[in-house]
Amino acid sequence: MQKLRPRRMRINENVRAMVRETTLSPKDFVYPIFVVPGEHVKEEIPSMPDVFHLSVDNAVEIAKQIAELGIPSVEVFGLPEYKDEIGSSAWDMNSPVQRAISAIKKAVPELVIVGDVCLCQYTSHGHCGKLCGHYVENDSTLELLSKVAVSQAEAGADIVAPSDMMDGRVAAIREALDNKGFINVSIMSYAVKYASGFYAPFRDAADSAPQFGDRKQYQMDPANFREALKEVELDISEGADIIMVKPAMAYLDVVRSVRNKINHPVAVYNVSGEYAMVKAAARNGWIDEKRIVLENLTCMKRAGAAIIITYHAIDAANWLH
Ligand code: PBG
Repeated sequence: MQKLRPRRMRINENVRAMVRETTLSPKDFVYPIFVVPGEHVKEEIPSMPDVFHLSVDNAVEIAKQIAELGIPSVEVFGLPEYKDEIGSSAWDMNSPVQRAISAIKKAVPELVIVGDVCLCQYTSHGHCGKLCGHYVENDSTLELLSKVAVSQAEAGADIVAPSDMMDGRVAAIREALDNKGFINVSIMSYAVKYASGFYAPFRDAADSAPQFGDRKQYQMDPANFREALKEVELDISEGADIIMVKPAMAYLDVVRSVRNKINHPVAVYNVSGEYAMVKAAARNGWIDEKRIVLENLTCMKRAGAAIIITYHAIDAANWLH
């Protein structure tokens, strides 16, 4: 007769709830928004159903809504009014991102505001740094990224999140913030950011596709794992407060290993392509959207992520309530 029966612990929902190892909460989420110039703009992004381009006024409305849902944080991306070779609109205090950050901080002070620090949305060539020929220069880009981070802190960001993958940017940004007195502005580093096909819908949404080549000289090769641990080590030594792995779903082995190795909070970015695939299959009736989204997000947490940046945040928070 069978004596060892793991199925006893699955016999009904209450027993399952008692032994459940991972639970999901709206508090786990960060909701990314795309801010655009203008007023009263709310336009759906074609490759990202139910995600919108928002003018600052509407961004504030969404921020209020997510705070009411118990989501603690919003990450602000922007489409600028102008682009140039060095991406100078990225640190323009009149740009949509800086205006949105201060308007949201004023309207919903308790919401944790994350500013995405990068140049690709702001440069005419769509690369994440300053060019020298077709090469993205590392060290001269650090000064520009530091300006972006400081401008976001000045606008009221609580966290800055460099997503460019230049070497040494965490140290440069930390120093620039400290020099301006922003000692309590945290850095969430996109420490492990792969050169991934899963960013395609975002590049439509943010109008940030590179005009030539790709990002493989700065973002990581999806085939590499040990290199991820090296990136994490460097960013921690430079002063990162939160370590992010991106994308999420195909990279949960990396999330788990990073979680086991460090004592910093780990974040994952459930990126645009992952979102778009789920939405497309759901719209075709091929999967149950609610079930798949909650399963995916639970598994990201099980893998070790304390923070999940996801376009599903509003739906998921509603389902969890
Ligand atoms: C900017 C940036 C990207 C994403 C976040 N910040 C795009 C990229 O690196 O090309 C992707 C987010 C997503 O796909 O949802 N560097």
